[in-house]
Amino acid sequence: MKIAIDGPSGAGKSTFAKLVAKELSLVYVDTGALYRSIGLYVNRKGVDPKDAEKVVPLLSEISLELKYSEAGQRVVLNGEDVSDLIRTPEISMCASAVSAIPAVREFLLKIQRDMVDKGDVVMDGRDIGTVIMPDADVKLFMFARPETRAKRRYAELVEKGIECDYDSILADIIQRDKNDSEREIAPAVPAEDAIMFENADEIPVTLAKMLEIIKENVK
Ligand code: DC
Repeated sequence: MKIAIDGPSGAGKSTFAKLVAKELSLVYVDTGALYRSIGLYVNRKGVDPKDAEKVVPLLSEISLELKYSEAGQRVVLNGEDVSDLIRTPEISMCASAVSAIPAVREFLLKIQRDMVDKGDVVMDGRDIGTVIMPDADVKLFMFARPETRAKRRYAELVEKGIECDYDSILADIIQRDKNDSEREIAPAVPAEDAIMFENADEIPVTLAKMLEIIKENVK
């Protein structure tokens, strides 16, 4: 079974992809972690993540690996587990910027397709239903109001002890939506055959609705 979950940042894709994976015994692949890892590398090098001419040559220095265990996905950048380091607001912005560079998307295509070929997955991102798994059994496009998403992201960061400010999180979400949906390559738009799914309820209610849709639509 292949399930694609696309949608804007903070819509709740990863929360529900993880729960669906557990419920249906699928591997959960978080593709945003790959873009974030490139964002982190570029940031550490002091390079402007929007500057494609400077970012592209760095790709040959990058090796990325996804590892899976009971604890979920870990992302390994040149041998270093960066799974926790890539979650800051600064790296979110870097990820969004590098993700608009065609060579970056091309670079990450193989690692994502390899995961698809390995077995049953629920994969979340922006172009999963359109580019990475166009033949997914079910494609969901998850959305939620920017304010709802900002509140959730704020709570998440506070819980992790990361210092943050609600207004700038909201502004960042609006800016990232704009970057991600207006970029020329693989914009974050629903696939023609995607099911639009609003995350507006409590987690158990939303999860039940999602599992129902998956059951109804699985080929
Ligand atoms: O899902 P996320 O917030 O971790 O993703 C970080 C950034 O990576 C996001 O701003 C857009 C980009 N991204 C992408 O372009 N395509 C994907 N499949 C996943 C993420």
